[in-house]
Amino acid sequence: MIVLKNVSFSYGGLDVLKKCSLQFESGETHLIIGSTAAGKTTLGLLIAQLLKPDRGRVVFPRGNIKDIRREMGFLFQFPEDLFFNETVYEEIAYGAKRHHIKNIEERVHSAIEMVGLNDDFFMKSPFNLSEGEKRLVALASILVWDPSWIILDEPFSGLDWQARERLVKTIKELKGEVGIILISHHIDDIIEYVNQVILLVEGEIAFASPPDEVDWDMVFESGCDIPYGVKMAKRLRDNGIDVSLEYSIPRLIQALKK
Ligand SMILES: Nc1ncnc2c1ncn2[C@@H]1O[C@H](COP(=O)(O)OP(=O)(O)OP(=O)(O)O)[C@@H](O)[C@H]1O
Ligand SMILES: [Mg+2]
Repeated sequence: MIVLKNVSFSYGGLDVLKKCSLQFESGETHLIIGSTAAGKTTLGLLIAQLLKPDRGRVVFPRGNIKDIRREMGFLFQFPEDLFFNETVYEEIAYGAKRHHIKNIEERVHSAIEMVGLNDDFFMKSPFNLSEGEKRLVALASILVWDPSWIILDEPFSGLDWQARERLVKTIKELKGEVGIILISHHIDDIIEYVNQVILLVEGEIAFASPPDEVDWDMVFESGCDIPYGVKMAKRLRDNGIDVSLEYSIPRLIQALKK
């Protein structure tokens, strides 16, 4: 579990996060949303111990800080820009070497399978893959050292819908194996699979709720995109049909039947 207690952070004089308190259960998938410059990436960096809070604390009830760094993987936005190895195998193995993993070959095989690719990719150049495959290889180079948490900052950006679906499938399959903290405004892709949705508004936590308890009006007013189901429900409301704001079309149909 990761607990944030009244965490505040500023860059110079700019207050970016204000008294944020949150709880992330291990093995669950958490989605952080918020409009541009709300402080999402900064929050991710604080959780990953890559930044230190000015005030408040990030607590890992089990484990000490030295262990924690080893337990946290951070997938930066456009991670493939950091590739530098000649083959996919070496790119993934590099992550393992950096963390002094012993059974590297075994781990690289398992990591490539976890992201839904296979050994045929090993001798390819990581630079010649499709954008979606590059993103999966970048994720594999983190999974290879078996972190208990991964933080993914806008992992869907720049991907077409097929690549996004493939990545969603991987994230879905990782659920339970590893704690996932996802920063994304592609809410539609992933909302069904998350345990907790956190809305950040100008550096403050507006809410942290299970997906079916999200206040979608609040999300809309904060300037974030809303799922297609919610958009449809709003249209229906505008046309005099009283229906709850549901995040997916199947849920909206169920609500209409009631
Ligand atoms: N290294 C930095 N130095 C100074 N200011 C920064 C730095 N990084 C971010 N900021 C500022 O902090 C605020 C929050 O930035 P952050 O990147 O955390 O937001 P975000 O919610 O991830 O935004 P986006 O949706 O654009 O990715 C912004 O106003 C940003 O300009
Ligand atoms: Mg960001």
